[in-house]
Amino acid sequence: MNVAFISDLHLDVNRIDPALALGLFADAMKDQDIKALFLLGDTFNALEKTATFVQALDDKVGPDRDVFFLAGNHEMGSGESFEEVENFNDARYFHKKFLDIGSYRIIGHNGWYDYSMDKNQHFIEEILSFKKGYWYDRRIKQPMSDPERMALAIDEMKAMVKEAKEIGQKPIVLNHFSPLQDFVDLIPFRRTKMSILKSFLGSRILGEDFVKWGVEDSISGHLHLHPDKRQVAQISFYNVALGYNRKKIKEWVGSDFASEVLKRLLIIDL
Ligand SMILES: [Fe+2]
Repeated sequence: MNVAFISDLHLDVNRIDPALALGLFADAMKDQDIKALFLLGDTFNALEKTATFVQALDDKVGPDRDVFFLAGNHEMGSGESFEEVENFNDARYFHKKFLDIGSYRIIGHNGWYDYSMDKNQHFIEEILSFKKGYWYDRRIKQPMSDPERMALAIDEMKAMVKEAKEIGQKPIVLNHFSPLQDFVDLIPFRRTKMSILKSFLGSRILGEDFVKWGVEDSISGHLHLHPDKRQVAQISFYNVALGYNRKKIKEWVGSDFASEVLKRLLIIDL
């Protein structure tokens, strides 16, 4: 059964007409017989907008196909409380949910970051001050520190992976944020001082835990890099971000949304 994944469509930043995107994904799902499509965050700059888009797409593809979504940092920064992001009431919201397909269990969690990707290159005070002053995520509300939020996320994912393994299902974990240091280290920072941004991109500790827990595949977004799949022990790590195509930031290979989506869409036959 074909299942597909993509992330970081940034439909509003990229100024893509949602109706065009709806038609494109509906056609792709039918043409390639995709039974479930997962959007791994940063679809829009607001959770409600992403939820509305996903519902419309799910309606369009009919009852035999499903569409689910995670929240990226761009969905979290339009005034939602931490509780809303954690418990957003929508059947298509895949955060802390799972879906069994054959012998696989697809597990969703937005993820977060704990600065471990920085590899102790900066003092905590510098990281906090950069986040507060410049980083997009300064607008995201949370009642705890970033390392505490990530520790909670790891506990939640650990329990879900354990449950899958106990009943003999092979876990595939979906996140918005990156769990793989190798992907983050590929970022070509033009100015060395910007490397502090690595702190906010994900958690190296989570990636190491995935290896220990026996996760089969890890699929994430957030890094607009388009790296090849990486194999670490038993896990295939994928990054499926589409990224920006704006005047000042051109991350697409072409300038055409449709061909870029078809290039980035990861389809796995489970
Ligand atoms: Fe993004």
